[in-house]
Amino acid sequence: MTVAPPPVARAAASAAPGGRGRASAGFKHLTECRLGGLRGSHREAHNMMAATGRKVWMDGRMVDFADARVHVLNHTFHYGVGVFEGIRGYPTTDGAAIFRLREHVERLVLSARLYHMKIPYTAEEIEQAILETQAANEILPSYIRPIVYRGEPSLGVKNSTGKVSLAIAAIPAKKYLGEGSESGVRAKISPFRKPHADALPTFAKAAGNYLSGYLAGVDAQKDGYEEAVLLDSNGYVAEGTGENIFLVRHGKVYTPGLESDILVGITRQSILEIAGDLGYPVVEKLISVNELLTADEIFFSGTYAEIAPVKEISHFPIGSEAPGPVTRQILATFRRAVLGEEPKYRSWLTPVPAGRPIARARN
Ligand SMILES: Cc1ncc(COP(=O)(O)O)c(C=O)c1O
Repeated sequence: MTVAPPPVARAAASAAPGGRGRASAGFKHLTECRLGGLRGSHREAHNMMAATGRKVWMDGRMVDFADARVHVLNHTFHYGVGVFEGIRGYPTTDGAAIFRLREHVERLVLSARLYHMKIPYTAEEIEQAILETQAANEILPSYIRPIVYRGEPSLGVKNSTGKVSLAIAAIPAKKYLGEGSESGVRAKISPFRKPHADALPTFAKAAGNYLSGYLAGVDAQKDGYEEAVLLDSNGYVAEGTGENIFLVRHGKVYTPGLESDILVGITRQSILEIAGDLGYPVVEKLISVNELLTADEIFFSGTYAEIAPVKEISHFPIGSEAPGPVTRQILATFRRAVLGEEPKYRSWLTPVPAGRPIARARN
């Protein structure tokens, strides 16, 4: 049965005659119009979501960005049972490269296993598909988003046998936390806590896990902050909505341990190594709100946010309200590492096989 499109879809289609390519041009126009009225961090947040790529890898086929669709009754859409990764591509001294590709694919496979999803590709095949997606999108720095999902129409929660699909998109990477990414973000301790791992396996990067982060992030944004800090179910500091958190006290670098039901960040792991190599004692432990509010320095870490200094937590100024010396040193080393300028960390980068010329995204 063919269903007539709703008026909005018809209007967008008629504003963009000429089939699929034109339809997406119409969508772009609508998005740009809506962005016109937004300012500051809100605008940044919308920019991230409005970003588009050229091609999406879907179960082995490279399709146009506008054609990367799934059925509205798919299981992941209704119940949040999908797992994904956020990966960055960087313009390095030797060309395009993916940061910590192997670790991201390993986490994707682990996340899928925790949700009873058997990905129909090997880890090597997934790595290859991610490299192909980067090459096909010709954009740097890029944000690459593989997602494992059940895309066929299927209602009923207990679907652990339906077809599992993999899609991989790549869009231009921007600054997740807006201007504060450089000068320091303002974050709010959220009234919404991280779910306990007894409720959800929090080590999985699963779609449904982001519901508490969504509520925390929107609450913080409505109160004028750039980001939220979520506590774990026992009231210890856990993480941001899309980042891990670090603090510096008396020359030592601290971050919440795995017992705080955090997502075990790949940037976090990289920072633990960098900080140790720079000679700072690094400690993973339970962190109280007291310790957070009295830290000398605080920063968030994540693939999209990279390293973002924090200058204020819930109206408490942190340090000198500017990126502190330890944060700056770790950040500078991290930047060199992702750009291939630190021989010690070169193994963290997987080169993208040379293809067509690379267009740089504007931040
Ligand atoms: C909830 C949450 N915590 C932490 C992180 C940081 O993880 P990574 O450094 O692997 O991107 C992310 C981002 O993926 C996240 O969404």
